[in-house]
Amino acid sequence: MSAGDQKPSGGVAARVDTRSDDYRSAERELYGMLDSISLPREEICENLMLFTTPQQLRRQLFLYEIYKKILDVPGSIMQFGVRWGRELALFEALRTTFEPFNHSRRVTGFDTFEGYVGLDAKDGPSQQMKAGNLATTAGYDAELEQLLRTREALSPIPHVKKFDLVKGDVEQTLPAYLAENPHTVVALAHLDLNLYRPTRFALETIRPHLTKGSIVIVDEVNLKTIPGETRALMEVFGLNNIRLRRDPMVGPTWPAYFVIE
Ligand SMILES: C[S@@+](CC[C@H](N)C(=O)[O-])C[C@H]1O[C@@H](n2cnc3c(N)ncnc32)[C@H](O)[C@@H]1O
Repeated sequence: MSAGDQKPSGGVAARVDTRSDDYRSAERELYGMLDSISLPREEICENLMLFTTPQQLRRQLFLYEIYKKILDVPGSIMQFGVRWGRELALFEALRTTFEPFNHSRRVTGFDTFEGYVGLDAKDGPSQQMKAGNLATTAGYDAELEQLLRTREALSPIPHVKKFDLVKGDVEQTLPAYLAENPHTVVALAHLDLNLYRPTRFALETIRPHLTKGSIVIVDEVNLKTIPGETRALMEVFGLNNIRLRRDPMVGPTWPAYFVIE
């Protein structure tokens, strides 16, 4: 049984599925138990690790390792591609853990919440490359906003809002956000839009907001079925001009990062 090169990013359509049938059937069985297990409801959240697979955990550990590297870099975290918000919640938890009083460490997530927008021939022929893929449920952004506010109430300085959810095509919303927030320094940018055009646009647009030591994560590097992010990276920064790295200890298969030098 092997997890292969799956990208456990929620939603079957999102997956680069090299999982074996055995693995998939065990995973289905595990997830099915979430409905049937006799744990009292109020204890489920505390025990969610029961349902977290090592593949999911290593993605979280990867982001944890990256977060530690930006502790001495001032600025915000920007995530391009939020979907259900699991990683925004993780960034918020890491901020609370490592720098509970650093309320300048804003966490800003950009997503259409209506799936892919801005497909290009450079995204290749994969079946998952279609408009609207990875859409959330209708109105989910409002639910996520409420959830993140509730999480914030559990953290220090709860009266200061430290996150933004920016809904819409990043080609429109990012310039508008930066026009309203021209002071923005980006300490960490996580590019997880899966598409060439908006990734290229986001990289070009945030570039003047990066400082030496800032980190850029590109979620799909060297991946044939999702080639757009790598192509955008090649065009905007040039592979020879950056040192792309993966984390050899916990590194999930496709995400790579580089430090601005
Ligand atoms: C792989 S998912 C992001 C997963 C997320 N990082 C997580 O924590 O699970 C890719 C997201 O990019 C979003 N997206 C694609 N094209 C976009 C665009 N032009 N503008 C904004 N969001 C876009 C999709 O709606 C989708 O939710």
